[in-house]
Amino acid sequence: MPELVLEARHLRKVFGDFLAVDDVSLTIARGEILGLLGPNGAGKTTTIQMLLGLITPTAGEIRIFGLDLETHREQILQRANFSSTYVSLPYTLSVRENLAVFGRLYGIKPLAPRIDAILELLNLRELAERRTKELSSGQLTRLHLAKALLNDPELLFLDEPTASLDPDTADQIRQLLKRLRSERKLSILYTSHNMAEMQEMSDRVVFLSRGRVLATGTPCELIARFEAEDLEELFLKIARGDMEGRR
Ligand SMILES: Nc1ncnc2c1ncn2[C@@H]1O[C@H](COP(=O)(O)OP(=O)(O)O)[C@@H](O)[C@H]1O
Ligand SMILES: [Mg+2]
Repeated sequence: MPELVLEARHLRKVFGDFLAVDDVSLTIARGEILGLLGPNGAGKTTTIQMLLGLITPTAGEIRIFGLDLETHREQILQRANFSSTYVSLPYTLSVRENLAVFGRLYGIKPLAPRIDAILELLNLRELAERRTKELSSGQLTRLHLAKALLNDPELLFLDEPTASLDPDTADQIRQLLKRLRSERKLSILYTSHNMAEMQEMSDRVVFLSRGRVLATGTPCELIARFEAEDLEELFLKIARGDMEGRR
């Protein structure tokens, strides 16, 4: 049995009378990249927010690093991190100041060398004194990732990390994440609307549709099971709802 860093069982989230996540179970092993796929509104972000303890599940259980998220949230979040381009960073601060704020929140000591190492890792050294509001979207994404890697997490949640990047920058980010995965056994939960990227990155994928898990497996297994050419075609088949009952 591989070591599980995350186990979510029977997650459910109801907003008012709307069922956003319905009985979702998933696991992530150490060093595994799990792709969370699904059309807009499928429940991906809601699921990630529950896994981060940002919103409380209506029902279900979440264990991370073997600990219950409800009772050990702070301990868990010290060893995990998150990046989403849709969350904004303090805009008037420089790149370095932004990292310093988050570094202090994590209690990283000594902080300055850690920030330098992260700036180097994400190719941000020349932009260190630049104000965050002056960054291009690709540079901003790199800053978000720098922030997410600051505490040397064992588990990373990435909600559409390459959404606003040009193909070259997106590829650099993918190679970096894969390197961190193999060098440090980093585990990653990943979402993207780029199916070629999901196929390249994911060891396994979980397909969500209307809040439910429709299918789960390695990209190859799913492509074979659904008789698709690739994940893109599989996505279209699932999104169009002609695949019920084949999970
Ligand atoms: N705070 C909220 N209140 C009401 N409905 C919400 C809230 N957050 C998300 N939803 C709804 O839950 C569904 C799933 O949303 P989301 O998890 O953001 O999907 P995805 O990330 O897969 O696009 C959507 O229909 C969305 O409108
Ligand atoms: Mg989303």
